[in-house]
Amino acid sequence: MTSTEAVKIGVAGLGGYAQTIAQLLLDHGPATQPRAEFAAVCEPDLQTHAEPAERLRERGVTIYDNYEQMLEHPGLEAVWLPVPIDLHVPFAERALAKGLDVMLEKPVAGTIDEIDQLIAARDAAGKQVLVGFQDVYDNATLPLKRRLLSGELGKVLSATVHGCWPRDTHYFNRATWAGALRRGDTWVLDSPANNAMAHFINIVLFLLGNDEASSARPTHLAAELYRAADIENFDTASMRVTLNRPDPANFLIHLTHACKTNHQPLIRIKTERGEVGWTVHDTSVTLDGQTLTTPRDSLMRRNMLEAFAQSVRGESSNDRCVATLESARCHTTIINAASQAAAITPVPASSIAAVQTEAGTVHAIPEIESVFERCAAQGQMLHESGLLPFTVPAAELDLTHYSRFAGPATAP
Ligand SMILES: NC(=O)c1ccc[n+]([C@@H]2O[C@H](COP(=O)([O-])OP(=O)(O)OC[C@H]3O[C@@H](n4cnc5c(N)ncnc54)[C@H](O)[C@@H]3O)[C@@H](O)[C@H]2O)c1
Repeated sequence: MTSTEAVKIGVAGLGGYAQTIAQLLLDHGPATQPRAEFAAVCEPDLQTHAEPAERLRERGVTIYDNYEQMLEHPGLEAVWLPVPIDLHVPFAERALAKGLDVMLEKPVAGTIDEIDQLIAARDAAGKQVLVGFQDVYDNATLPLKRRLLSGELGKVLSATVHGCWPRDTHYFNRATWAGALRRGDTWVLDSPANNAMAHFINIVLFLLGNDEASSARPTHLAAELYRAADIENFDTASMRVTLNRPDPANFLIHLTHACKTNHQPLIRIKTERGEVGWTVHDTSVTLDGQTLTTPRDSLMRRNMLEAFAQSVRGESSNDRCVATLESARCHTTIINAASQAAAITPVPASSIAAVQTEAGTVHAIPEIESVFERCAAQGQMLHESGLLPFTVPAAELDLTHYSRFAGPATAP
């Protein structure tokens, strides 16, 4: 393969987020360096997805109804896997066994056990596996991380993220694994922290990593988990995580789908000399009272595609970060530890408001938006704040030697 030839990529899936990936390849694949060619797609339910399948066929993409067949596509070099969480590791392993590189959607897997298994398979195959945590590929990420690593902002004192993304019954009913602890025999642990808002945990861990490539590893966790919707797993989480850093930084996390209004996740990393802010719209750095705000990189998914194409060709860029299995494992450690330590507390009906949407109903905890705001400002977990009547003290787990998910405290 010469470096001028396009990297031939196959995508698993035609629905859900796979549509975004398909469009990404069509729009940007011809202009990345090296170029990325959308060679093939596989979708078991071609009846439901007949229309997008036909549009892609017209654009020269070969359509398969089966993943195994797509892996045999002539000249295929890599696959992108925006499929349900339980399929991530088995699909990635099959691709690696065929000598293909992999872009795996986040979260890598339900458990760190599976991630370790995949790291071994990747190393045995001598191929690349990147992870679709797109914020890591944002052009703002590496400069921000370099400033934090340089010590210019002083020691990190604390990090917080709080965010409220309402999700209704339609969202939870869209797939059998949505809001579930497992699908079949495989843990998926689907929740705001492991799926929709996973990015905002992962990017903090990445920014606070001890070098340019790594994420900060959690060493202790306290968690409170709550459920307002009619699902198996939690929809509201309050967590405090200690990180393996030279400074004593704690990371406080408040995320919910059980809310009336959309409050975009807000990350604040407080340091001795200022603060780093991160939202879906912009990043900011405050140093000695002066704040500089920069709009977020609108091309971060294009950058992610280019980074993937480069990794297939054995190239890398000094100006961009990539999300690896090792860095994503730090996020999954939090997900596993929280589930293992804390039983899910059902929110009593008296503390739930049913909010009708166009497609369904959100089971919302009234005022959770302002409660999270106050908790983040005070550095408090939900129960410590005393602001909601149904909360319980956090469960804790030492993660110094944590290497295996032992199952959730709440039986499925
Ligand atoms: N990076 C992001 O911003 C982002 C956003 C949304 C979803 N995601 C991730 O993308 C993945 C999919 O999420 P979703 O919400 O689209 O899920 P979904 O259940 O709505 O869609 C899953 C897709 O997988 C396909 N699929 C299922 N079984 C398959 C099989 N055996 N072979 C081939 N394709 C198969 C389905 O047809 C569908 O296209 C998840 O890992 C999710 O976390 C990432």
